Amino acid sequence: MRDAIKGRRSVRSFRDEHIPEEHLRLVLEAGVWAPSGGNAQPWEFVVVREESTIEKIKLFSPGLFGNPDVIVVLCVNKRRVRGGKHEELIALMDVAMAAQNMMLVAYSLGVGSCPIASFNKSAIKELLEIPEHVDPVLMLSLGYPDEWPKPPKKRPLEEVTHYEKY
Ligand SMILES: Cc1cc2nc3c(=O)[nH]c(=O)nc-3n(C[C@H](O)[C@H](O)[C@H](O)COP(=O)(O)O)c2cc1C
Repeated sequence: MRDAIKGRRSVRSFRDEHIPEEHLRLVLEAGVWAPSGGNAQPWEFVVVREESTIEKIKLFSPGLFGNPDVIVVLCVNKRRVRGGKHEELIALMDVAMAAQNMMLVAYSLGVGSCPIASFNKSAIKELLEIPEHVDPVLMLSLGYPDEWPKPPKKRPLEEVTHYEKY
């Protein structure tokens, strides 16, 4: 698991190869096993495999690079979230944890991924017919990497960790 955590990289260039359906399912399933505040599980996942739809998504997604085999759009279902800014933030954390689970399982299957927040939400809602009460918050691109990128600089543990008091 530690290897997966350290080995996973954001991948922005993919080979022209398909992820088997059963592997994609394992990736998606990892999402539903994420922890969730109050166990609300406010997530919805829209899976896009159709090449022509992916091409359309690219047109309004400046943060999407390469030609992924699959795009998963992770959404918050507002009907599963109690009102208030705090609950909205919790729902975002839930979805982020689902996304990380998915990326780690993808990595364990040799599949590269990239989280993408830079996309036009109203455009994706319209294209994928996402209902009003469902908010797309993050996309994951998935595919076999051309190569695994080198690790970016990470802030050292000593710099970010504060023992007992800040
Ligand atoms: C919430 C979030 C949003 C991100 N949005 C984008 C994006 O729109 N486009 C992109 O290429 N990468 C995006 N990334 C990937 C980051 O750039 C990447 O995680 C960071 O550079 C560290 O690299 P690593 O993932 O290989 O460790 C995003 C990452 C996170 C966590």
